Amino acid sequence: MRRRLIAGNWKMNGSRSSLAELDAIAAAAEAAPGVDVAICPPFTLIERAVARQPGLAIGGQDCHAATKGAHTGCIAATMLVEAGASMVIVGHSERRADQHETDTEVKAKAEAAIAAGLIAIVCCGETAETHRAGETKTVVSSQLRGSLPVAGGDALVVAYEPIWAIGTGLTPTADDVAAVHKTIRGVLVEQLGAERADGVRILYGGSVTAGNAAELLAVPDVDGALVGGASLTAEAFVPIIAAAAR
Ligand code: 13P
Repeated sequence: MRRRLIAGNWKMNGSRSSLAELDAIAAAAEAAPGVDVAICPPFTLIERAVARQPGLAIGGQDCHAATKGAHTGCIAATMLVEAGASMVIVGHSERRADQHETDTEVKAKAEAAIAAGLIAIVCCGETAETHRAGETKTVVSSQLRGSLPVAGGDALVVAYEPIWAIGTGLTPTADDVAAVHKTIRGVLVEQLGAERADGVRILYGGSVTAGNAAELLAVPDVDGALVGGASLTAEAFVPIIAAAAR
């Protein structure tokens, strides 16, 4: 049985004062022992977040594939570990778009993250245009074949985030989510083998809120959620943790 994971991605939001939200989030996580809960704040808040709530999993939002070197502005996976992080998001669609990250780079980042002892959350998802053209499964499968690290198991998490659903209030139907997650599970088995694929959790992300979390988490092959806007406050995030606990 895969444990559910509810991960919050703060993106480029939050400041020191936002860390007060972690108190109620950590309490909700403790009250949901069957659910893994994580928050991925901006890099500068990681160390303070860990110090404030040592029991809560804290992650980064990106890492470099190299362990060190002349890469101005980048963060190595080992640096995240030193700051106290236990996971990292790689290949988010916003980085694929803004920083032109390729599947090959995302794969290298995921490999580096896992080698450093982090859980790697590898993101994939289609554009609105691809969705309208009915090519979601083909595009997501291709992204994953290029982006998956060779390691599998519980160090690897895949997040399916349709780009058109991020921050828009739109979500795919439960049937559409089920179909894509089933396809992703198939690609995991094909790429990693049944045994290593079995431990890999597949999260859904894109406009997850307290209002739709229970329905989305009930979809077959959905092992949790990657939450953006609704992870910024405990008020919005705690009900999603509670929905996962049921
Ligand atoms: P929203 O939950 O704000 O739609 O963001 C989803 C996301 O991109 C999480 O990584």
